[in-house]
Parts: sequence; structure tokens; C-alpha cells
Amino acid sequence: MILPLSLVSAFFLFISPSLCHPLDPLTPQEIHTVKLIIQISHSASSPNITFHYVDVDEPEKHHVLKWLSSNRHRTPFLPRRAKAVVRVGGETRELIVDLITGSIVSDQVYKGYGCPPFTFDEFFKAIRLSLKHPSFQNLILRRGLDLSEVTCLPLTVGWFGEAAKRRVVKVTCFYRNGTSNIWARPIQGITLLVDVEENRVLSYSDRPRDLCLKLKALISKGRGLALFLAMGTATR
Ligand SMILES: *[C@@H]1O[C@H](CO)[C@@H](O)[C@H](O)[C@H]1NC(C)=O
Ligand SMILES: *[C@@H]1O[C@H](CO)[C@@H](O)[C@H](O)[C@H]1NC(C)=O
Repeated sequence: MILPLSLVSAFFLFISPSLCHPLDPLTPQEIHTVKLIIQISHSASSPNITFHYVDVDEPEKHHVLKWLSSNRHRTPFLPRRAKAVVRVGGETRELIVDLITGSIVSDQVYKGYGCPPFTFDEFFKAIRLSLKHPSFQNLILRRGLDLSEVTCLPLTVGWFGEAAKRRVVKVTCFYRNGTSNIWARPIQGITLLVDVEENRVLSYSDRPRDLCLKLKALISKGRGLALFLAMGTATR
């Protein structure tokens, strides 16, 4: 449903004065308002907006102290603002929303390092994409495992100072084999790299089984240098 911004502003005007304290967390209604205002302002450029962070935009300390020393039961604290971090059209944006006037006070593209945190939706999407990927299914079958007993879990790929261009997660998998403890049997050597915004598996790797056996033999013989060299081959 798309409502004109002015209508939303009028509707939510003066919702906040009933708040008890300026640092109170956002109410469910306020979170909903923030979502609606941001969606309306960006719906023209992109229908898909993901929210990665929504919280109170904390007022300056001296404003809060002034309010505390005033007749605070009768004077509502103004303004009431929220800050949000969203992904829209492949960009990260940081917004400040004024909840009293129902307007966006600031809206900036974030150009710094890193990406906003992943959402649960993105994690679940990465799991679904991995389990559906035909090459991954083949790898599992080649190892004689039952695909319906495989659980995959996404991990962030980490950040090592490089310019982050894509939002990707690394997916590793476990074999439940009829139990509820997914951690007991990690499926070694198979990892997938999933782009959660392009909705696709970018790459997968399968460290060959015979190499694992070779490494095991080297470990048992305590041959450190040979192991180190073999691992170099494994990661190339
Ligand atoms: C928006 O999301 C839908 C559903 O996930 C998808 O089909 C569509 O391609 C997306 N549109 C854009 C512009 O990313
Ligand atoms: C799965 O469980 C069965 C029965 O406990 C066991 O024989 C088999 O080795 C297990 N498979 C794997 C891959 O762990």
C-alpha cells in the first residue's frame, strides 16, 4: 500500500508525547512508522528495501538533563527521532526520521568501510540457495550422503580491510544423520559462497577427499613442513 507522505505525517503527528523518557526504546508503532516513511520515500527508486538497523536517535545529553530538571511529567520531550540503516538499490543508506513531524531529516549514502549486519532473511536465503544448488547436491550425493539429512549454516566471510563490494556469506554444512545435533558431523571440505543480494551461489569449493586423507597421514607422522606444503596446495 502506498500512501502519500503528507498523509502519513498527519496520521502519526503527535504520537510520541505520551512517552515517558527521551531514551525509551522505540515502540512497535514507532518502528512501523519509520518503516512506512522510509519505504514511501524510496519506493520510486527501488521496491526492495531491507532494514538492517532501527533505533532511537539519542538526543544530546544536555537536552535530556534540561528536560529532567523541568516539569517533565507535563512537558513532552521533543524531538523524538529514529535512526535507520537500510540497503536499497545496492547502496547502504543512513537515515534520521523525525517521528513527530513524520519526515526524513537526513538521508545519506554510506560510503565507509564494511556492510550493515546480515538479516535473518538473508541468512535463510543463503541456506535455501545452497541446498538447491545442483553442483552442491552432486557433491553431497558423491559422498554417499542423504541430502534431506544435511543442514547448512551461513557464516560471514569476515572483513580484512578490502573494499567490500558484495554482500556475501560463506555456507558450510553438517550431516544430521537422524539426530538433532547438527554440530556433531561437519561435512568437511565443502563450502559455498553466496551473494545474498544477487540471490545466487557465486562459487563452491570441494577440497578433494584424497587430499584430506593425505593430510591425515602427514599429521599422524608429524611431518610439519610437508603438511604445510600440502595445505598450500589445498587452498590454491
Ligand atoms: C525485488 O524483490 C523481488 C522478490 O525477492 C525480486 O523478484 C525482484 O527482482 C527484486 N527487484 C529488484 C529491483 O531488485
Ligand atoms: C549415520 O548413522 C548410521 C547409524 O547410526 C551410521 O552407521 C553411519 O555411519 C552414519 N553416517 C555418517 C556419515 O555419519
